[in-house]
Amino acid sequence: MLESRAVSTHAVGVDMIEIPRVARVLERHPQRFLRRVFTPEEVAFCRGRVRELAARFAAKEAVMKALGTGARSVAWRDIEVLPDQRGKPLVYLTGGAARRAEVIGLDAIDVSLSHLDEFAIAVVVCTQKRREQEPEAARRRLVDFLRLRGLLG
Ligand SMILES: CC(C)(COP(=O)(O)OP(=O)(O)OC[C@H]1O[C@@H](n2cnc3c(N)ncnc32)[C@H](O)[C@@H]1OP(=O)(O)O)[C@@H](O)C(=O)NCCC(=O)NCCS
Repeated sequence: MLESRAVSTHAVGVDMIEIPRVARVLERHPQRFLRRVFTPEEVAFCRGRVRELAARFAAKEAVMKALGTGARSVAWRDIEVLPDQRGKPLVYLTGGAARRAEVIGLDAIDVSLSHLDEFAIAVVVCTQKRREQEPEAARRRLVDFLRLRGLLG
């Protein structure tokens, strides 16, 4: 079996979001949503534009996937996405997200965003100096779990 291990030098994350869903949250709880999820700089840049906010939301989730955490252990505002002078989005990590990146050896992070009327999508690619866990050990843990639950032969 060809394993996904090799020497992993990249971490990737992808996320897609329904823009009308973000619009609804923004309509219902504008202050709470903006304060909880976005930095003041992101709020200032997006000026309430729902596509831009949705794409940034997707980018934050994509970064959380690249960090391997999901949304549970990293704060949304510790991941900031702002454009450079040409409009290309750049990612800035602070607080817990920066610490997590350090632990798993992420040393560069790049993001790409896209949106249509209904959906926004973000893809993140990071270079990674070291792997956090051996894929064989992770696979073994899952197989043991599936066996224990009687889900695997
Ligand atoms: C993983 C997370 C960041 C995204 O989940 P989601 O947007 O609900 O679901 P998605 O379909 O985009 O992603 C699911 C996939 O993420 C991947 N994933 C799950 N946990 C992961 C982790 N710790 N690290 C990396 N990837 C992970 C899995 O591959 C999963 O697909 P699978 O179950 O088929 O294997 C999740 O932790 C989360 O909490 N999301 C917050 C959702 C939220 O607040 N939404 C509000 C919208 S306004």
